[in-house]
Amino acid sequence: MAFDIEMIKDVYARYPERIAAARKAVNRPLTLTEKILYSHLSEGPASQSFERGKSYVDFQPDRVAMQDATAQMALLQFMQAGKDKVAVPSTVHCDHLIQAQVGADKDLSVAKDKNREVYDFLASVSNKYGIGFWKPGAGIIHQVVLENYAFPGGMMIGTDSHTPNAGGLGMIAIGVGGADACDVMAGLPWELKFPKLIGVKLTGKLSGWTSAKDVILKVAGILTVKGGTGYVVEYFGDGARSLSATGKGTICNMGAEIGATTSIFGYDEKSAAYLEGTGRADVAELANGIAEHLTGDPEVYADPEKYFDQVIEINLSELEPHINGPFTPDLAWPLSKFAAAVKENGWPAKLEVGLIGSCTNSSYEDISRAASLAQQAVDKKLIAKSEFTITPGSEQVRFTVERDGFLDTFGKMGGVVLANACGPCIGQWARHGAEKQEKNSIITSFNRNFAKRADGNPNTHAFVASPEVVTAMAIAGDLTFNPMKDSLVNEEGQSVMLDEPKGLELPTIGFAVEDAGYQAPAADGSKVEVIVDPKSERLQLLESFPAWEGTDLKGLKLLIKAKGKCTTDHISMAGPWLRFRGHLDNISNNMLIGAVNAFNDETNKVKNQLTGEYGEVPATQRQYKAEGIGTLVVGDENYGEGSSREHAAMEPRFLGVRAILVKSFARIHETNLKKQGMLALTFANPADYDKVQEDDVIDILGLESFAPGVPLKVVLHHADGSKDEFEVNHTYNEGQIEWFKAGSALNLIKAGLA
Ligand code: F3S
Repeated sequence: MAFDIEMIKDVYARYPERIAAARKAVNRPLTLTEKILYSHLSEGPASQSFERGKSYVDFQPDRVAMQDATAQMALLQFMQAGKDKVAVPSTVHCDHLIQAQVGADKDLSVAKDKNREVYDFLASVSNKYGIGFWKPGAGIIHQVVLENYAFPGGMMIGTDSHTPNAGGLGMIAIGVGGADACDVMAGLPWELKFPKLIGVKLTGKLSGWTSAKDVILKVAGILTVKGGTGYVVEYFGDGARSLSATGKGTICNMGAEIGATTSIFGYDEKSAAYLEGTGRADVAELANGIAEHLTGDPEVYADPEKYFDQVIEINLSELEPHINGPFTPDLAWPLSKFAAAVKENGWPAKLEVGLIGSCTNSSYEDISRAASLAQQAVDKKLIAKSEFTITPGSEQVRFTVERDGFLDTFGKMGGVVLANACGPCIGQWARHGAEKQEKNSIITSFNRNFAKRADGNPNTHAFVASPEVVTAMAIAGDLTFNPMKDSLVNEEGQSVMLDEPKGLELPTIGFAVEDAGYQAPAADGSKVEVIVDPKSERLQLLESFPAWEGTDLKGLKLLIKAKGKCTTDHISMAGPWLRFRGHLDNISNNMLIGAVNAFNDETNKVKNQLTGEYGEVPATQRQYKAEGIGTLVVGDENYGEGSSREHAAMEPRFLGVRAILVKSFARIHETNLKKQGMLALTFANPADYDKVQEDDVIDILGLESFAPGVPLKVVLHHADGSKDEFEVNHTYNEGQIEWFKAGSALNLIKAGLA
């Protein structure tokens, strides 16, 4: 679907020279991850070796993908860059805003109606700036990317945490915030801390009930939800080569659950078969031409301990199916131990709903294997005891599995097909009865199972397993059922067993689709108008932030001195506020409402220095803004940790906060602040935090000679007439200082100076 073969040719043409340079710089054999990263340095061929886990490096990704919830602010920002067109191929996918209620058709039409203004905006902005637009109903971002855009040896970023799904086809694919997507679309480099590497050696071969999902369920059990943080997980070995490309995608997708930067498999015959099966034989041919660069060096895989920071080995022939949960994806249970765990922990054994599909597990292979069990249920006269839903990952998969009779088979088992969208996976599930908050169990083939994620009920025990195991459990309606050894009683009172699931990696007669749901952008977008209703509550065009006035900042008021943990969630809360993520003014009403005020230990209650009264943070700040008074926010350690959402930096900027002064920053948030033209400062002496008083008026001095590595000075004028002065540090480089002066990085791009 309009994948850019010329771009892939360009990337591959660079490979031999870049790999040679990387080999020289690193001076040892290379892993696949290193080959791709070093081939995507924005500086060109490597001139130095980077330290894993330490060096910050600028990359040049090949593609950008955005889902509809995060695309809104990314694209509103991109519009500020003053470009005619995106610098790299980019796509928007409408998948997150469709609520699952009764079934695909009805749910889709309700969503189109409810989200019309968002869809109209995304469609028009895509059309204007050369971005591919996947309409609501076209499918889930990661499945659509795998089917259409992922390519071996490529590098992409996506505004969604499961972007690593494309690693199944050998691509370094990383989830980012909207500001990063905006930068890359505007032609700027993208910065990443050079990752550490975990090698997972797979031996043996899957069989019977075990599937690719069980590999990652096992890995999650070993590494836990934090174990992958800062790492890329690279899979290799004979076992890896035996897995289908979509199975590999499942494993990479769920690497997000262990916190990994991304996960990846090398290019092999299965990748080629999938590329050919999805209409990209030309990409496979190109990849074959540089195949030795699209996998790690043989020396690396022969002696992995020497080249990876950590190594895990899994024998697929011995791997058991797993069920992980509840409430966390790393609580891993081999199937043979699960029934006992259910009983011992008092989890509800009765299974209410089995849900298959999602971006994680809705390949042709997944659906066909699950359908083989549904067919058995019909043939063996078993009535499914649980409710059962199927979420296809794309219209292409849905159309094909319908053509091949699988949806019909699910229907006979009592299954309900939901829209090709995220639906229950992201809480877009109007589950009947969930509001009663009863303790109950569900099992899904999705990836996340945190409390409340699927249906909002904190007492829903959500378990994660392969589509095959989910289907078998839904037939049994009982979590203590082990399909590998237990029998079930059918309608006629006979005791029957389920045979092992069977399926096909790819459809024998190929994929088919009537309308994939893709809308190509206009060849010349200059006349296209972006549609935003000025009365909209959900969308608002951005205005450029003002440039620095050229003087020191004097007479700032203290807005809040935050105490303890202050994550991006404390700064810009999620939940109901997500609705406003395309409307900066409206979402700014959540600014810092979760931060604890150090002077009263309360949240969202700060002293208004103009009135002496206590009020909510956003309202107080709006009053300062109305009076033209700048403010300062003070914070503790690791300020701005958590999700990379750019709203946490844009809101204070929008409402007139001039600087954030903290003991230390989470790096991504610090960079986001810099991009928005804010001053991000740290106490040279962290004990100076204690000198900040509630009624302080503050000066920030030294800005006229603002330079890299040179501290600035802060003067606190206390209410009693005394004052404190101290140094504050910053990490701005020359370019970032220009962002500050211009008012934001985007202003600089717009002026053609970045
Ligand atoms: Fe959507 Fe769930 Fe995947 S929210 S993108 S289906 S993880």
